Amino acid sequence: MADIKKGLAGVYADTTKVSKVNPETNSLLYYGYPVDELAKDRRFEEVAYLLWNGELPTAEQLSEFQDAGRARRGLDEATIAVIEAMPKDCHPMDAVRTAVSFLGTLDPQHFTPNSDHIREIGLELLAKLPTIVALDIRRRRGEGYVEPNPELGYSENFLWMVFGDGPDSPLNKPGDVECFEKSMILYAEHSFNASTSTARVITSTRGDTWSAVTGAIGALKGPLHGGANEAVMHNMIEIDDPAKAEQWAKDKLAAKDVVMGFGHRVYKKGDSRVPTMEAAFKKLATEHEGSEKWVEMYDILAETMYENTSIRIRPNLDFPAGPAYYLMGFDIPFFTPLFVMARITGWTAHIIEQYENNSLIRPLSEYVGPDQREVPARP
Ligand code: COA
Repeated sequence: MADIKKGLAGVYADTTKVSKVNPETNSLLYYGYPVDELAKDRRFEEVAYLLWNGELPTAEQLSEFQDAGRARRGLDEATIAVIEAMPKDCHPMDAVRTAVSFLGTLDPQHFTPNSDHIREIGLELLAKLPTIVALDIRRRRGEGYVEPNPELGYSENFLWMVFGDGPDSPLNKPGDVECFEKSMILYAEHSFNASTSTARVITSTRGDTWSAVTGAIGALKGPLHGGANEAVMHNMIEIDDPAKAEQWAKDKLAAKDVVMGFGHRVYKKGDSRVPTMEAAFKKLATEHEGSEKWVEMYDILAETMYENTSIRIRPNLDFPAGPAYYLMGFDIPFFTPLFVMARITGWTAHIIEQYENNSLIRPLSEYVGPDQREVPARP
């Protein structure tokens, strides 16, 4: 029997310069910079630039990059029509996956000619994904397409397209805007996770970037990956009362159920992104009346999971992100599309890296089916 690494756990598939996940020191570096430092006062677009170019932009480079993105935010009529045609009860991840795939059909270049083309598509998607997600949110509410506003920053424009600028809009709550921007930076990149690996596998066949991103979105949809932030909020709503949270978690552990938003394949002593996201969630909560119960439940669940597991299971990024997005006013099925908006930066960086130093990714399998046998004569 071959030495099988189920789930490829512990296997180093390649080298990467994009990010370093260090479970020993609980740190995550994007091109050498700690992500919690970047999230302190850098813009998400600066982080996107860093991931695609290996260096933070100068003021001039940033302004050029932002202008190029802002000019690409709008959707053409055909893409709007495709999104409008999708069933209103389809999962929003299916909608965003289909919209990205459709955009690929508009690209006259069927295969990737060079890595500049990958950067172009990355920029196109960085700019358009918020518009796609905003349109999908709005049409389900019976509202129409809102043109993006080139005067606004990345997060402000997105929140404006979704919620407008009324008194209850997250746009008018500084904690919400800050928390959203930080969540984009924290969700941007995380080495060879399942969706990034999917994008790299597709790229390794010399498949095009639209296909690589479409495949990555499919991988991210799963509840063991991106879908966990949705599941966290469903659980919190099910618990409803902080007084019930401890028993709820104990019951789940006793039943050997997986509690979403906890644990990680790589981090075993805590997810490096959680302290920043947790602080942003708790700050945001102070601007939302009646949100104390979610904060209280958050703390009780985290403590109960830690105290009642032999391996001291801690929260991952999805745990604070779920209730933060909920308080901002996003419908739960849209939490994972928000993750897509962020992760397009990391996916693009890895697609470039794979393209520029390619080797077809094709693992082996140990056959355990029946021994060779003869096909019987047709009765
Ligand atoms: N809830 C309850 N038990 C958990 C758990 C969780 N969230 N995460 C891990 N465990 C348990 C495992 O079942 C396992 O128990 P066992 O030894 O009795 O079989 C033990 O802890 C060790 O698990 P581990 O090897 O550390 O997990 P993994 O690397 O196989 O899985 C995840 C990692 C992310 C798939 C897993 O933690 C999980 O399913 N988490 C919930 C989904 C989630 O939040 N995903 C987002 C990730 S960013």
